[in-house]
Formats: sequence, C-alpha cells, structure tokens
Amino acid sequence: MRVILISCTVHKGSTYSIARIMAEKLTSPENISEVFLPRDFDEFCCGCTSCFIKGEEHCPHYEKLRPITELIDAADVIILASPVYVYHVTGQMKALLDHYGYRWMAHRPDERMFRKQAVVVTTAAGAGVKSTLKDMADSCFFWGIPQTYRLGRAVAATDWQSVKPKVKDSIGSKADSIAKKIIKRQGKVPVPLKTRAFFKIMSLMQRNGWNEADKKYWTDKGWTGSKRPWK
Ligand SMILES: Cc1cc2nc3c(=O)[nH]c(=O)nc-3n(C[C@H](O)[C@H](O)[C@H](O)COP(=O)(O)O)c2cc1C
Repeated sequence: MRVILISCTVHKGSTYSIARIMAEKLTSPENISEVFLPRDFDEFCCGCTSCFIKGEEHCPHYEKLRPITELIDAADVIILASPVYVYHVTGQMKALLDHYGYRWMAHRPDERMFRKQAVVVTTAAGAGVKSTLKDMADSCFFWGIPQTYRLGRAVAATDWQSVKPKVKDSIGSKADSIAKKIIKRQGKVPVPLKTRAFFKIMSLMQRNGWNEADKKYWTDKGWTGSKRPWK
C-alpha cells in the first residue's frame, strides 16, 4: 500500500508524529512518501482561474506542484496533517488545497480519487480540532475520496515530548482502529451514498455546464451518462 503524508509544517511536532505513526501502521517505510510545506511547495493561488477555465496545466505553479500531484495520484492513502492554527489549518495547507480546487467534483475530479482513502490529522493545544479536520476532510470529499478518517486531539502541549503518555496511548488506539478499516477496505473502497448522490447532481449539471473545460471533461469520461469512476 502506497501512502503519501503531507505535513503542513516543516517541524516534526505532535501532528507530524501522529501522522507518521498512522502511516507506519498502514505500510512499510519504503512505501511512505513525505511532503513538507512550505519546503516542498510555497506558492499561493494567484486567483487567475486558469485551472478552472483553460485547464490545470495553465496554472503558473503547475510544474512546481507536479511532483506532489504525482505522489497524490500514485498513493492508495493520502494523509493530510496540519496543526490547528487559529481554529483552522495552517496557511500552507490552505495554499496547497486551493491549488486543487479544479479537482473538486464540481469541476474535474480525477477518477483515481474514487479508489483512495484518506486520513486527516490534527492536534490543538485545546480547541479547534473539529473545524481543522473539516477544512481537510472537505477537500478529500470533494476530490471524490470515498472514505476519509479523522484523527485529531487536543494534546494540551506545544510539542510531542510534552504530550502525556495516556494521551499518546489513546491516539495510538484510535490510529489502530483506523488502520484496521483502511487495510480491510483497500482495493474495494466502498463509495458512500453521499458521494454517489453528489456525483449524480454534478453529472446532471455538467450536461448543460457553463464551463466548457468541465463539460467536455465530464462528457468525454461518459459521466454525464451512466458511467461512474468507481465502476
Ligand atoms: C499560530 C498558532 C496558532 C494556534 N492556534 C491554536 C488554536 O486556535 N487552538 C489551539 O488549541 N491551539 C492552537 N495552537 C497550538 C497548536 O495547535 C498546538 O500546540 C499543536 O499541538 C501544535 O502542533 P505541532 O506540534 O504539530 O506543531 C496554535 C499554535 C500556533 C503556532
């Protein structure tokens, strides 16, 4: 199983440590790729909307982003890890996710996404876990990933060494239970009703889509008819 771990800080704090524990419960170290932001990608979306209208290859950061895109596409499991910064993901995580807006189901989702699983990971000192996990889980859902698991904790600490053993144990148990589900579902990831229903609505909308690039994409894939990316 191939795993990509995208860590949205460059330091290896509590969030990275938990994400790495999660990754190692799924696969061997040689199958884990790690990306650190902003070290590996440090651009902000400039709002030109070229990705939506002309195609993603027209994004001024397309080539710079390509190595990360290729790792995402090759992975079976995507782990997105960001600490809580003022109740949400870090700016660098948001900047990365903005660059994949064109891949949302409302535009041009990549069909490989519908066979992947994701884990979103966060830690807070105290509050903001739920909203931060949602920031990342929203992109996973709208990219088309059928199963996204949430691993977040208020750790009452600003570094991993200071996190109490009891809290670490409880995080480990939660990671174990997520790993069991992911391994069981690998290769036959169930596509939930919510994804199927949203895809259907998009499919109807794309028949008369206002954006030619999106409309052509959906039509060429046969998705405006009865074909589905998970079949
Ligand atoms: C800029 C900044 C904003 C933060 N905002 C919050 C917050 O809104 N809520 C909270 O409980 N902790 C907040 N924290 C604390 C971190 O989320 C917390 O210490 C986290 O476990 C750090 O993860 P890390 O060790 O992976 O860096 C903030 C920390 C920083 C640096």
